[in-house]
Amino acid sequence: MYKTLLTELEKGTLVITVNRPDKMNALNKDVIEELGIVLDEVYNNDEIKSAIITGAGEKAFVAGADISEFISLDAAGGSGLAKKGQVNVFDKIENCPKPVVAAVNGFSLGGGCELAMACHFRVASANAKFGQPEVNLGLIPGYGGTQRLTRLIGKGKAMEMIMTADMVGAEDAKALGLVNHVFASEELLAKTKEILQKIQLKAPVAVAHVIACINDSANGDHHGFEHEIERFGACFTTDDMKEGVNAFLEKRKPVFKGK
Ligand code: COA
Repeated sequence: MYKTLLTELEKGTLVITVNRPDKMNALNKDVIEELGIVLDEVYNNDEIKSAIITGAGEKAFVAGADISEFISLDAAGGSGLAKKGQVNVFDKIENCPKPVVAAVNGFSLGGGCELAMACHFRVASANAKFGQPEVNLGLIPGYGGTQRLTRLIGKGKAMEMIMTADMVGAEDAKALGLVNHVFASEELLAKTKEILQKIQLKAPVAVAHVIACINDSANGDHHGFEHEIERFGACFTTDDMKEGVNAFLEKRKPVFKGK
């Protein structure tokens, strides 16, 4: 169905695999377009409760935007490329009401690191490597890297990582707060699915509110506290809140319907 992606839905989790292993899964126009389409499916298909983004093969998650598409661009073309990607893919991931997790299985460079950072959180295989090497090409990150890396690891660390273009390994990425867990390569997908299965047992509307509230904070929204108050109130109108509270009082497990 897709030219550059593989998708597989299992137990409510859609695994989206960027599938250009001979090009280190670099994000060319087709990948960006198809990621936009598959994300619409994640938003709209009720059978999909959560998603994982990963890369095909053993070497790379995604080694960046496709550098071969850069040579013909001028200023407007460069801005257009960045904007289209940010709006259709990266922001769509960040604002997705269902959890989207990056399972980083190798090189996660440039647009690949930005793709992972747009996800709600990241887990990595032991051989993963993260970096923003754009300055090597006379460029800067264009898919949100200067913003999201700074939010995730802090100003000084982001400055050094982007200005030196140095890569960091999985354990260092964990120490920096860039990834939550490091797993052996062969366990990466199974462990990521386990985390999502746990989240899928929680109230989906509440989870969607959590994503929106935490994004407010990460994005420096000055109304984050007010939004939390409003969203806390909105939870009281859901069937799931009544189910969750009743289940607790009746000493049983809740069964949430996402309503
Ligand atoms: N865009 C386009 N093609 C890419 C690419 C990218 N970002 N990253 C890798 N490739 C291609 C290579 O050109 C090569 O293609 P070829 O076999 O047709 O020559 C193929 O993927 C394999 O990459 P190669 O460099 O031979 O593998 P390696 O194991 O020696 O090195 C990397 C792996 C990831 C370190 C190296 O490919 C790299 O530095 N890539 C670019 C990273 C980057 O600067 N990303 C930011 C872009 S803004």
